[in-house]
Formats: sequence, structure tokens, C-alpha cells
Amino acid sequence: MSKRNIIAIVGCNWGDEGKGRAAFFESQDASIIIRSTGGNNAGHTIVHKGKKYALHLIPGGIIHQNKLNLLCPGVVIDTDVLIEEIKMLNESGINISPEKLIISGRAHLIMPYHKDLDRLYEHFKENKVGTTGRGIGPSYSDKVNRTGIRMYDLLLSEEELRDKIAIAIKPHNILFQNTGYESCIAYADKLAKKLKRNGQFLKNFIGNTDVLIRKAIEEEKKIVIEGAQAFRLDIDHGDYPMVTSSSPNASGTLSGAGIGPKYISKVIGVTKAYCSKVGNGDQFFTEEYGEEGNIIREFGHEYGTTTGRPRRCGWFDCPNIRSARTTMGLDVLCINHIDTIGKIGNELGYIKVCYAYEYNGEKINYIPDDTEITKQRPKPIYQIFRGGWEIPKDCKIYEDLPQKAREFIEFIEQQTKIHVQYIGLGADIKDTIVK
Ligand code: IMP
Repeated sequence: MSKRNIIAIVGCNWGDEGKGRAAFFESQDASIIIRSTGGNNAGHTIVHKGKKYALHLIPGGIIHQNKLNLLCPGVVIDTDVLIEEIKMLNESGINISPEKLIISGRAHLIMPYHKDLDRLYEHFKENKVGTTGRGIGPSYSDKVNRTGIRMYDLLLSEEELRDKIAIAIKPHNILFQNTGYESCIAYADKLAKKLKRNGQFLKNFIGNTDVLIRKAIEEEKKIVIEGAQAFRLDIDHGDYPMVTSSSPNASGTLSGAGIGPKYISKVIGVTKAYCSKVGNGDQFFTEEYGEEGNIIREFGHEYGTTTGRPRRCGWFDCPNIRSARTTMGLDVLCINHIDTIGKIGNELGYIKVCYAYEYNGEKINYIPDDTEITKQRPKPIYQIFRGGWEIPKDCKIYEDLPQKAREFIEFIEQQTKIHVQYIGLGADIKDTIVK
């Protein structure tokens, strides 16, 4: 068997952990960078050489020279957003050609009616998920229903495409008609025309990503998979129903890419030094509604990249990372915002880390999944760290970090039993320490 050289980067909490930044760092010496789950519900800002790039679909690896970036079959694609992103990158001087970007023909499309359905389903739910409204769930539903429209369909004749769309929209139009959403009724001929125009722009980028991945594996080239969303948003393993509609855990990420588990060499779990979440749902176990939450939000600039919504904030949760370790097969952790948590400690005079919960009269160190039945809320048990720290300017290696920051990191390692290999100290990838 060829040498394994594939790294998956996945989020450990509710998204927005800085996976894009970690993937960008890890892909400096990679040949291929992959996105394989979710769509433009994700969003990250890469800061490189003083320039900022906001991306939702295309992997951050596109900013590096001479690397191939793939959007694999597990991704759902809004072609308008994809075209905008390609144009934005071209305008920033990063020339996008099929040598740099290939999109799987198998990847499903987010159609305009999926965005309308996303709104409609949310409207009728009593407990709203608080989706990003990007049409992600309805696109995956059509895929599972086997009525999805795929990237390859953009290469069909306009008539063939129109016929496929006509079948897909039938049940949706009945729903729109009967729920007061008549203005959303979709027309196959109009949609086919529009998609063919987008197809004209995108046609040279559409291809077979399996073949490219196979070749890279045979040549023992390094591949980095940039995960989207995160463990607690996973449709099977997250806080159902307040989750996304794909499997952002490590195995789902591999499956979406079309890579078998035996080829993976390392899974990096990315987390912040505190927790944040966007969207609805019960208070997460370490969430703070009061002053502590506000200070974390302000110091961490915790406002959504995709929707601008203020994020809900709380303390680092070791039981969650311990659950993520086995479910996602984490090898190492990347902890971002070690600079921010130090500032928060200076402001508040302390930092908290949850290492266990009191639940149903017991002390537990995992995430319980039956809280709706027991009607019990796990109560976090915290380790308190006094004060905070400032990161020195010339901090390059682990030993340069203030002692209190090292104590914080080593406590997390001890509690989660995972080595913290990467430490993020700022937005730019040069502000990364490898331990
Ligand atoms: P959807 O993925 O738009 O269906 O949204 C479902 C839930 O996942 C909502 O709570 C969203 O806020 C959340 N979500 C989806 N993508 C992301 C992400 O990239 N970061 C953080 N939260 C996300």
C-alpha cells in the first residue's frame, strides 16, 4: 500500500472553530485541497500576506500557488455563489483555471426553490433550527429523494435539463401552492435557461474528482480535506434536530470526498479556547448568557461570517472533545484563540474550563444524548484558572508561551487525552505554533 498522506481537518463544536485557517496552514505543502461536505452555509476568512479573502465554498487552499482544489461529490453547490467566488478570486489576482479548481460532476446543486423551501420549512416549525437559509437541507433532501440536479446536468442539453427540473419541482410546487407560497412556484424552462448560462461559465471546471484523488494517492501526494460545520452539527451525532443536514464528522468528510478510511494519516480536530454557536436550540451546556458570554463574544469578535449573526458564547468543554475524540477518530487538536482567552482572563480575572458534568445524580465525562427524556440539564464542573495572559510579540515556539497559557493547554490535553499540536494566536497563519 502507498504511504498514507491524507489529513482531514474537522470542527469539534458548532462550527466557526477556524478550520479554514488550520486547513490553509496544513495545505502549504499539499498537492490537493478538498471540500467535501456542506455548501455555502460555511464561511471563513483567510488572512494571508496582509490580504483578507472571504470564502464560502472554494477551499482556502486556492490562495496558495500551484495547488489543485476540489469540490467533491458530498458538497452542495449554489452555482451563483460559486461563480461570484471565482470572479472575486480572479479580481483579487488569484487566477482560477481548471488546473487549480475542479468540481465533481456528481455534486448536487442548490436550486432557487431550495432556498424558498428552507424558509418555508423553518416557517412551519415550532422549534426553528435557525438555518443559514442557504437551501442546504432541501438540496440534500432532494438528493436523498433521488430528484436532485447535479453539476453534470449543467452539461446536458437545455431540453434534457428542463425535463429533469420539471420532475424535481412537481411536489415542491404543490407545497408552495397549498401553503400561501405561490410566489415561489418554480418554472422548469426558466430555471433550465439560467442554469445553462451558469453551466457555460462553469463547464471547464466540471470533472471526475475520483480519478484525480486516485492518482494523487498512487503518487503519495499530500491531500488536505477541509471540513465544514462540526461535530455537534452532525446529522447523526450532533444536537438533533438543531443540526445541519450532512455528516461533518471525519468519516462523513472522507465519504463526501470519496476516500476510504484506510488512506487517512491524521485527523486534526479544530476548536477554539472557548465555545461559540450560531442558530437556535437550548442553551449549550457551558453557554453563558450574561457578562461572561458578552465578554467572550466581544474579545473573540464572535459574529457570523455567513450571516453576521452574533454568536452564542461559553467556556471550553472537555467532555465534548472527549466524545469527539472517539466519534471522529481525532489524532491531535488545534486550539485557536489562545491569545483571546488570555485577554478574557485578564478582563474577568479568571478563565473557566469544563472538565465534567453533574447529570442525573452522577458525575459524567461525556455528552449525554437523552436530556429530552430525563428533563435534566447537565451542570458543568469547572476548573478555574486565575488571571489571564498577553502573548509576547516574538512568540514562535511552545516554550515562548506564557506559563499560564501552557497550563491551560496542558490541562485540556490531560482531560481530553489528545495532544494539542497546533496553537492559533491570531488570524494570520504565521501566528501558529506547532508543538
Ligand atoms: P443549515 O446548515 O443552513 O441547514 O443550518 C443548520 C444549523 O447549522 C443552523 O444552526 C446553522 O446556524 C448551523 N450552521 C450551518 N453551517 C454552519 C457553519 O459553517 N458554522 C456555524 N454554524 C453553521
